[in-house]
Amino acid sequence: MKTQKIIFPLIAITVVIILSGMVILNNRENQNKQYYYFEDPIECSGCHWDRFERWSVSQHSKGFTGDFFQAQFYDLVLPSLGLDEKVADAHEGCIGCHSPSAFLSGDMIPPRTVEPDNHWNRADYTKTMADRGIFCDFCHTLDRFEHEPPFNHDYISHATAEVDPKRADLAFPWSPHHETQMSEIYEAEQICATCHNELNPYGVWVKATEHEYAESVYLDRGIPCQSCHMQPMQGKPAKMGLIRDHNTDHWWGGGFAEFVEGAAGVYFQEDFGMVEKGEQIDFSIMVKALATGHNFPTGSVEERDVWLHVSLNNAGGEEVLHIPVPANPSDPDDKYFITSNAKIAYPSHSTLSEPIERDGLPEGDRIYHSAFIDSEGEFTFAQWLTVRVIENRLKPLEERIENYSFTVPHNLPEGEYTLTAVLNYRRMPDPFADYLGVERRPVIEVSRDVRKVKVE
Ligand code: HEC
Ligand code: HEC
Ligand code: HEC
Ligand code: HEC
Ligand code: HEC
Repeated sequence: MKTQKIIFPLIAITVVIILSGMVILNNRENQNKQYYYFEDPIECSGCHWDRFERWSVSQHSKGFTGDFFQAQFYDLVLPSLGLDEKVADAHEGCIGCHSPSAFLSGDMIPPRTVEPDNHWNRADYTKTMADRGIFCDFCHTLDRFEHEPPFNHDYISHATAEVDPKRADLAFPWSPHHETQMSEIYEAEQICATCHNELNPYGVWVKATEHEYAESVYLDRGIPCQSCHMQPMQGKPAKMGLIRDHNTDHWWGGGFAEFVEGAAGVYFQEDFGMVEKGEQIDFSIMVKALATGHNFPTGSVEERDVWLHVSLNNAGGEEVLHIPVPANPSDPDDKYFITSNAKIAYPSHSTLSEPIERDGLPEGDRIYHSAFIDSEGEFTFAQWLTVRVIENRLKPLEERIENYSFTVPHNLPEGEYTLTAVLNYRRMPDPFADYLGVERRPVIEVSRDVRKVKVE
């Protein structure tokens, strides 16, 4: 009896381990690579130096070593794996997209980075392990993807222990370091979709940048992700190669000033002229997504915020009256679309963490973002624990009208004022950055419109 009691659980545990092992093997489709199958990015820098320079300040180079990823992965994801059997392997997904050579080598919990970095730092040193993030030799030894459209790091690599042929789309390249191979996968959005579309363990699309793109006009116009995010730049693909028309920037800017400024526009719909104290002023503002090939914001939408701040400013530009967006009582989700500093946002699952302030912004502004909800119905920043997403983002080229109303205060000195509408972007709320112990992200102005108002 006693031995049976021990043996049966042992068999059960062994079966579970074997089964979960098979799932991992299946996922990696017998790819079974080793770290050293992929070259150190610095090996490429001698000949492809400008690409290397750009890559090493890109988020791709910081996919694993980034301060935010490091904090979230080690402090929030790993402690949450026991919450529910559905999320027992959630960390492997993180590694699959954020450090593909670690994933392909089966290194699912690499050692924590001692000095995490971020966009503002260069990372141009030797990198041979998980710290390479999404790097040259991984992307340029890709073969194909399992799904159409691809998602959840379903890439198939053909890297071997040798120096592999590097694949891309140049016509007749020749290189002394490696063979080259033409592949059409580099010209289309699928190579991005494999990581930029993410289905979480609860069957929720927590990233769907390529899906959003596929519904936009840009697919029909033949403008893939690369046209906007890997633009032509001066120089040559390789030091000793030819001068070519085709030479692409490997920075992949996204949620940074260079891309965010002008991504959408704000436009007052009326002119005002003279107004009287005590008068009620009704007006509307159009917000239009102008330059994004997907929703705005996109990607890590659980923390990216875009918000519209409307105010009456004096001649010196100082805000004298904040004009909040009116609540919409008929929409139960309205509270998610108006900035709030209530302590209702959970860094992890609501049963595993204490709530922090949600937005850390002036309250009452219209906010364009996605609210991620956990199994307890609470707002969470943990995308892997999300069971429902509530949407309020701008679709590509969408025009949204926001209606406002305010009463000119009686105590306002007479004179010239400006009604000001500013659309802002931030990569993550300050309260969340503070909680994680990472540098606060700057506010970037997307667009601004002003109207003169004379108060009598
Ligand atoms: C996220 C995947 C990815 C990473 C990482 C990456 N590349 Fe590329 N690379 C591409 C794609 C996609 C193209 C094709 C771009 C196009 O045709 O619009 C390309 C094109 C190239 C080309 C051909 C010339 C050109 O500009 O089209 C060279 C050479 C190249 N990459 C080298 C590198 C080097 C060196 C690194 C690392 C410093 C690197 N790549 C990192 C995806 C990647
Ligand atoms: C000794 C110099 C040298 C080194 C080192 C080198 N390359 Fe190249 N590479 C070249 C040259 C030259 C070309 C051809 C350029 C041309 O024809 O315009 C080339 C072409 C390429 C292409 C285009 C292939 C195609 O079919 O379009 C890719 C991708 C590429 N290299 C990736 C890499 C990666 C990744 C590394 C580092 C692991 C690397 N290279 C290291 C010199 C080098
Ligand atoms: C192997 C997975 C993988 C592939 C392939 C990939 N990406 Fe990424 N990409 C990522 C990850 C992970 C990040 C975020 C890294 C971080 O900040 O921790 C990222 C970040 C970015 C960003 C920066 C977003 C921001 O503001 O922080 C852009 C833009 C981007 N990718 C575009 C592309 C494009 C375009 C392609 C296709 C040519 C592509 N990516 C291919 C995984 C991938
Ligand atoms: C028509 C140009 C265009 C196309 C096409 C396009 N993008 Fe973008 N993308 C932008 C602009 C502009 C931004 C900056 C505004 C923003 O954050 O959405 C951006 C931002 C991003 C970001 C950062 C979002 C954030 O806030 O963190 C990612 C990631 C990204 N794009 C990936 C992609 C991928 C993947 C594709 C293809 C499926 C793609 N983009 C197609 C223009 C484009
Ligand atoms: C299917 C691929 C995929 C999976 C799985 C995935 N990510 Fe990402 N992750 C991305 C991409 C792509 C981006 C870039 C989106 C953007 O910048 O808007 C990103 C962005 C991030 C960022 C934002 C980085 C920054 O600087 O703002 C963090 C943090 C992050 N992921 C953590 C994780 C963690 C933790 C997990 C596992 C629970 C995970 N990711 C799973 C693809 C993935």
